[in-house]
Amino acid sequence: MMITKTEKINRQQPEPEKIEAAAKIIREGGLVAFPTETVYGLGADALLSEGAKRIYAAKGRPSDNPLIVHIADFEALDRIAREIPPQAKLLADAFWPGPLTMIFQKSEAVPLETTGGLDTVAVRMPSHPVALALIRAGGGYIAAPSANTSGRPSPTTAQHVDMDLNGKIPMILDGGAVEIGIESTIVDLSGISRRSDGTWVCGEMPMILRPGYITREMIADVIGSVCDDPGFAGTDANVRPKAPGMKYRHYAPKAELTIVSGEAFRVAEYINARAAEAGAKGEKTGVICTEQTVGQYHADAVKCIGDRADEESITRRLYAFLRDFDDLGVDRIYSESFSELRLGRAIMNRLMKAAGQRIINV
Ligand code: TXA
Ligand code: MG
Repeated sequence: MMITKTEKINRQQPEPEKIEAAAKIIREGGLVAFPTETVYGLGADALLSEGAKRIYAAKGRPSDNPLIVHIADFEALDRIAREIPPQAKLLADAFWPGPLTMIFQKSEAVPLETTGGLDTVAVRMPSHPVALALIRAGGGYIAAPSANTSGRPSPTTAQHVDMDLNGKIPMILDGGAVEIGIESTIVDLSGISRRSDGTWVCGEMPMILRPGYITREMIADVIGSVCDDPGFAGTDANVRPKAPGMKYRHYAPKAELTIVSGEAFRVAEYINARAAEAGAKGEKTGVICTEQTVGQYHADAVKCIGDRADEESITRRLYAFLRDFDDLGVDRIYSESFSELRLGRAIMNRLMKAAGQRIINV
């Protein structure tokens, strides 16, 4: 076992000596968990194959699941992407630093361990000041998956990271709770390539492999055409998602989660009835509801995730809620359903994965 040191760090102005201590670990091929605006990441030098191997071991993650390389300057892309299509510059100008990951053909500099054996590389420039400082001091390229044990909900606080990875990594930078709470949007640009005459050809349309805070509509506003990967929803077992990580039953709490959709009063009626049945058998029920409905439920643990009109309040708490219910020891969790518009698409994507696609219409 390794001693895990949790270091509190100033979010806005990270203390240079703390960044340097963490960066030294990264430069030497070790692991550091750090905050980003989306979720906490588990970082290692992306250009060292040893770093990626350590990440897979600490997370218990299948090594065919590629990592995202985090950079701090647009120019850093030149070294790791073989070609940078004009759409990438447009999207970077609009959304970097921020919660958007882009996929490119990879250069020789990126080891296959980092990309899970693929010849493409996922790249993101986070906006969190601690993440940016660590990337700069750590050599410019940090591979970082979410800092959870594989299969658990992504961590949105340093305490979540500690629960999963204590004893397995040397350092956690604690910058407090994250702002967004779900992982970045992933858009695949690797189907766009340069012809010998210098013009660009779009062999495959830019495709969203994982929905997130940056919505399809926002991306389409910048580059025109973009489509959703039909596989990311995971509703059809015959359609394989293009992002290897999207195929796993992910973000899952220990208790069985069911989503209930329909008119609000019917949803409450249904869930209350299930909670009463469970109670009669001595089982505990948890409910995820909203400010609009919180007064209507009778169950062991009724938790209000936020205001339906404020989707960001919902993404911010989603993973913490799933972990809280585990701590409360409930046997079953029921959640209200959300609209699939805009950010709602990402909320429902993560909820459906956590529920193993279990949804009931009442
Ligand atoms: O917000 C985020 O993106 C966070 C923070 C830490 O930056 N990171 C994160 O990493 O969510 P991770 O490893 O949990 O998810 C990465 C996803 C996986 O589904 C993986 O399969 C996909 O990105 N991915 C990575 N490289 C890829 C590639 N070359 N082609 C297709 N999918 C890729
Ligand atoms: Mg993850």
